[in-house]
Amino acid sequence: MAIGLHDSTISNPVIRWVDQRLPIFTMMQKEYGTFPTPRNFNYFWNFGALAMVTLMIMIATGIFLAMNYTPHTSYAFDSVERIMRDVNYGWLIRYVHMNGASMFFIVVYIHIWRGLYYGSYKAPRELLWILGVVIFLLMMATAFMGYVLPWGQMSFWGATVITNLFSAFPIVGEHIVTWLWGGFSVDNPTLNRFFSLHYLMPFVIAGVVFLHVAALHITGSNNPLGIDPKGPQDTLPFHPYYTAKDSVGLVVYFIVFAFLVFFTPNMLGHPDNYIPANPLVTPAHIVPEWYFLPFYAVLRAVPDKLGGVLLMFGSIAVLFILPWLDTSPVRSMRFRPIAKWALFLWGIAFVVLGWAGGKPAEQPYVLISQIATAYYFAYFLIILPLLGRLERPLALPESIALPVLRGGGPLPAGAMAKPMEKA
Ligand code: HEM
Repeated sequence: MAIGLHDSTISNPVIRWVDQRLPIFTMMQKEYGTFPTPRNFNYFWNFGALAMVTLMIMIATGIFLAMNYTPHTSYAFDSVERIMRDVNYGWLIRYVHMNGASMFFIVVYIHIWRGLYYGSYKAPRELLWILGVVIFLLMMATAFMGYVLPWGQMSFWGATVITNLFSAFPIVGEHIVTWLWGGFSVDNPTLNRFFSLHYLMPFVIAGVVFLHVAALHITGSNNPLGIDPKGPQDTLPFHPYYTAKDSVGLVVYFIVFAFLVFFTPNMLGHPDNYIPANPLVTPAHIVPEWYFLPFYAVLRAVPDKLGGVLLMFGSIAVLFILPWLDTSPVRSMRFRPIAKWALFLWGIAFVVLGWAGGKPAEQPYVLISQIATAYYFAYFLIILPLLGRLERPLALPESIALPVLRGGGPLPAGAMAKPMEKA
């Protein structure tokens, strides 16, 4: 490698001076300026950028909350009330952080759905997808620990129920739970370590997001047609085309976010969390935050505790191997007439699980959860592998530019390629 100054093309002399020694501006220009991006993105492609914005908002508001929060069982609840009442704009910072967690999951669930529908998990983007699943797991751990911090009734009992799940593992189970708690029940050491980890994890997430986006910039983005760009006619520079399109999404995102924060800040939370934690009084229904409900339903669908825990972990683990379970060479569900409906049904099963997870663990909710859980797994483990072999996909267009420049409508037969050649 040649040693010396980087050959910067930036005209501003101060920025050029920096860029010659550390070419971050050249790198930004290459990755976010001229970066060739498929010209047919729809609004589903906004959600990665929105997730990034949410992560930044969560870190910024979290840092300010931590300045006024006390991680001690005797003071945590009151310190949060003080933030709400006495700290200047404390109510705003807390409501943005609280609802920001919900916004994060809404955005990431849509981001994942986009990946499932357009086959973004398929080769060559398998590692990008796997890094996404790692981010999702880290997000869930972070959100779980964050919910414990206000030390309300749901904080305490949610933490007790979820950490106790590990006791289902034979021999080592009880030891794991004691180790997680740092004692013999959810108590001060638990709260303290959860605070420490809750502060740390978003930075770990930011690191994995960096790898996620780095991997994306190697393979390039997928697109709604699921076919690869064949040349410059199929792509646009990221700026100004997608910076502008992402800005439109950002405005809508902020309207939804502001509505939650300013009009219904507690809609997505549970009222019991405004009661201070009391280890002697169990709430009537212990429910996790809404974004965990589908997985909570999977857990309770199995009468056996260990079986439920394994199935719940399995429902995420199966996502890691998804790129190899889906054997179809066609990426986008637009061209997969049967798989498309199978996926819509999976989406319904996921929503049904979310609904059933919020209900008491009794009939008919348990049976409904069992049916939805069975379909959740069947989609990945049976339907996708089989459809890859049995389904006849529709013909794919020759290129991305062709349907875009025609402005929609059916393509002439000659403009189609055989599906197997293209994906
Ligand atoms: C903090 C959370 C996350 C952030 C900040 C993030 C960020 C991004 C960004 C900026 C992009 C490019 C823009 C776009 O295609 O929307 C992207 C693409 C992608 N992400 Fe994520 N992501 C996150 C979570 C996830 C998760 C949980 C998954 C899957 C389980 C995932 C899977 C993907 C895939 C497959 C792509 C490529 C999409 C394509 O090219 O069609 N991401 N992500």
